[in-house]
Amino acid sequence: MKKRALAALGAAAMLVLSGCSVTSTGAGGNDGGSTETKDITVGVSMPTQTSERWIADGDAVKAGLEEAGYDVDLQYASDDIPTQSQQIDQMITEGADLLIVAAIDGTALSSQLDAAAAADIPVIAYDRLIRDSEHVDFYVTFDNYEVGVQQATSLLVGLGILKADGSEGDATGPFNIELFAGSLDDNNAHFFWKGAMDTLQPYLDSKVLNVPSGQMTIEQAAILRWQQETAQKRMEDILTASYGNGTPLHGVLSPYDGLSRGIITALQGTGLGTTIADGLPVVTGQDAEIASIALIDQGVQFASIFKDTRKLAEQSIKTATAILEGDEPEANDTETYDNGVKVVPSYLLTSDIVYKDTIVPLLVDSGYWTAEEVASGQAE
Ligand code: BGC
Repeated sequence: MKKRALAALGAAAMLVLSGCSVTSTGAGGNDGGSTETKDITVGVSMPTQTSERWIADGDAVKAGLEEAGYDVDLQYASDDIPTQSQQIDQMITEGADLLIVAAIDGTALSSQLDAAAAADIPVIAYDRLIRDSEHVDFYVTFDNYEVGVQQATSLLVGLGILKADGSEGDATGPFNIELFAGSLDDNNAHFFWKGAMDTLQPYLDSKVLNVPSGQMTIEQAAILRWQQETAQKRMEDILTASYGNGTPLHGVLSPYDGLSRGIITALQGTGLGTTIADGLPVVTGQDAEIASIALIDQGVQFASIFKDTRKLAEQSIKTATAILEGDEPEANDTETYDNGVKVVPSYLLTSDIVYKDTIVPLLVDSGYWTAEEVASGQAE
């Protein structure tokens, strides 16, 4: 940024000094409630609107940046890589001062990031790491490995192998499970998988858990673009190929609520029960999407992972503000996220497992979803 943004900040300071009625606390200062514009534009590139978490992310980032006095150019790319590339190109051409990007394909934005660097525009990777570029200034995300651990843990709890407090449960198995992973071009998918598989491996080794399909690599388990229909189809294919002879299926590791709902549709369609109580296998998830939270409340999906997008948005705004003001953004991890070219300084947030009995304390009490939304399964 620095040239353009600093020039803008300088202009704001001049206004303050000349007694104009801006409410800023000083050059680049922000009292948190000021709404004066700083004449600085932040380009925010989000992957898709088909999943509600990204809509919440986009809305929260935009609102927070505007509250801090920045102009915001928020774009969604319909999960289409050329669309996202073109939208970012346009943000650069139109003079964005900083970019916040949640990549569709973490490896596909190198030329955009080169162009951003050439124009002195800093880039914050949002939730998903941008790979293969030295021009990623910062990464704000959740502890993605831990999310995978939590997903596997929720599966073990659902099977009764563990209790929700982490202590040993009464069930000894053996249990049959199937494994799903996210989109291979999303760096997060690999972290979720690693965290989950490290957690499940001892039980696979001891044969407490078995995978009758034999599909145990991330390549076999991956669902391109995190598509619900693709997950449903893969689950149906596995049921046909490996469960036709009455082999029971007890649980499914799913890394995202959209996939979970596709998987549940496949399971219900094959007559494996309508709720967990009447025999439906335990299915995990991620994102605390309202449709899945309602299913958890109804005893259909077993669990999800709550990643509070309000906190991620807030952290990205703090980071953007620090960079725009020429300060060092606060990192709490400078080792984990090697993007293939460099280790990107990161700020990692924590996540929580949502079970039926933690919907209210985690989601309703924090105002993420209302009790009415949980009951209806629809965001209001
Ligand atoms: C995000 C998840 C999300 C998934 C699909 C991942 O990169 O971290 O929260 O479930 O993308 O949108």
